[in-house]
Amino acid sequence: MSERVKVTIDGISVEVEQGTTILNAARLIGGEIVPPAMCYYSKLEGSGGKCRTCLVKVSKGSEKDPRPMPKLVASCRTTVMEGMEVQNITSPEVKEARKGVVELLLINHPLDCPVCDQAGECHLQDLSYEHGSAATRYEFDRRSFERRDIGDKIQLHMTRCILCYRCVYVADQITDRREHGVLGRGDAAEISTYIEKAIENDFSGNVIDVCPVGALTDRTFRFKNRVWFTKPVDAHCNCDKCSGKVTLWYKGEDVIRVTARKDEYGEVESFICNDCRFEKKKTSDWVIEGPRKISKHSVISANHYEQLAPPPVIRKNPALKEANKEQFERVIRY
Ligand code: SF4
Ligand code: FES
Repeated sequence: MSERVKVTIDGISVEVEQGTTILNAARLIGGEIVPPAMCYYSKLEGSGGKCRTCLVKVSKGSEKDPRPMPKLVASCRTTVMEGMEVQNITSPEVKEARKGVVELLLINHPLDCPVCDQAGECHLQDLSYEHGSAATRYEFDRRSFERRDIGDKIQLHMTRCILCYRCVYVADQITDRREHGVLGRGDAAEISTYIEKAIENDFSGNVIDVCPVGALTDRTFRFKNRVWFTKPVDAHCNCDKCSGKVTLWYKGEDVIRVTARKDEYGEVESFICNDCRFEKKKTSDWVIEGPRKISKHSVISANHYEQLAPPPVIRKNPALKEANKEQFERVIRY
């Protein structure tokens, strides 16, 4: 068994396996102290280290060498040491730096949330609300690109891209051949034109789910609805290519989108194939499991009536409790 080390993040201690990153140690604690991450993706090997949103302050390096680290570090790339002490939300320096990172990420971003399909589930939108400032110091022309269709199911809107490389890792690790990548450096960097070829693969649709912004969108869902007006439902099917575990997004009786299921950090639980994502848009294609539980902090939970517990008068009375068994078992009701 590998050695365990103790790390303290914002005053909360946790024991983790040696080699764990600060970000993953924070995720084990959970809650507000978890740094945001725009490029790291737990299911994609080698991801992280690109966006700097996860910066934290290491105020004590380790028990052996308690000196603080001289600069803020990327928590997704820095591993914990025994006795390490880290500050995230308790450090004004980190908060200020994160504001700067958000400003940088938004330099070329078109801020077209009102017409973007990703609005409501966009990590950059959340990041800007939580850590951004109302104004920008940037005075120059923003770079822009033409939208590009990647086959008939996916669209690339490079102007919104924050160059997190997640889609590149998906093509590298989930599909059998990667034909796109980031070409150029600095303000000339862009997803290469060869991304069009990635569509040939059964798992290429996963680039949509991993994209933290609206740069890669599902053409079969474009402009069909705002995501907070849809009703997400967990469902599964017997698929010979993937786990078949998905979330169906309903508008009335119609399935208007199929995605992989995502965890509390917005990362997919398991990647799904293009057949499940694009070809099965009928309720009869699926075994419905029940409403998807959406965090009450998400705008997607708006318009959903959530009943978390029956009223106390029922809870305290065993006879009434039995009579209202169904109500006890129900978590979300539309
Ligand atoms: S297209 Fe999306 S997933 Fe790919 S690098 Fe840009 S922001 Fe990241
Ligand atoms: S999440 Fe750590 S650098 Fe992007």
